[in-house]
Amino acid sequence: MRLIKVSDEEELSRMAAEYVFSEIKNADRVVLGLATGRTPLGMYRYLSKYSKEYKLLFSHVHTVNLDEYVGSRAYHAYMQENFFDHIGIPINQTHLPDGEALDLERECKRYEEVIQQLSGIDLQVLGIGENGHIGFNEPGTDFSSRTHVVELTESTLSANAKYFTHEKQPQKAITMGIGTILESKEILLLAAGVKKANAVKELFKGSLNENIPATVLNHHPSVTVIADRGARSLLE
Ligand code: F6R
Repeated sequence: MRLIKVSDEEELSRMAAEYVFSEIKNADRVVLGLATGRTPLGMYRYLSKYSKEYKLLFSHVHTVNLDEYVGSRAYHAYMQENFFDHIGIPINQTHLPDGEALDLERECKRYEEVIQQLSGIDLQVLGIGENGHIGFNEPGTDFSSRTHVVELTESTLSANAKYFTHEKQPQKAITMGIGTILESKEILLLAAGVKKANAVKELFKGSLNENIPATVLNHHPSVTVIADRGARSLLE
């Protein structure tokens, strides 16, 4: 696992955007796995800016998001607003789980098929939960899990409560499984702020532990972590 040390969230955003940008620029076709939440917001802002400055077309880019809340389109709206609307990506090349599907089990299977039909994910961008979750794979999730429905933990619900001022906060989500995430060819994990320090410490210093899902990344051959000073504060 490679660690790129940055000083703050601004530098993290720029480094992450440069990393993803070079992947997009150098490929004839690329499948990006994407995350939502606070951490990648600056990366999306920079990528949107680069796409205009360098007139980069996203016609060869396909995206698959990690997760969506059940009964909500909150992450669809987030991706539209913060990224897709700014880069001119053909919308049929963007994919998120449908949290409003009537048959959620079937939706999970469909989402796995979408990823398979794209021939897998080239680069998966991840954030990390305060409890070490990746995607919405909460502590205790089987490392071989595929896309599934999860009951969100108190820790995750309270970290995200601030985003639900206009709708009731969903208690469940659909998430790519840990097994699904691990099949990505390359992984880029972003960690910012002291609240992530414990999870980052476990990731680098802890042993493989299902109660801290991110520790599984030690078993992936190509993981890069970009962490700011706060997130690294228990490492040094
Ligand atoms: C989001 C996701 C989550 C977040 C994590 C960190 O799609 O899958 O794992 O990456 O909860 O969230 P922030 O960046 O808001 O601290």
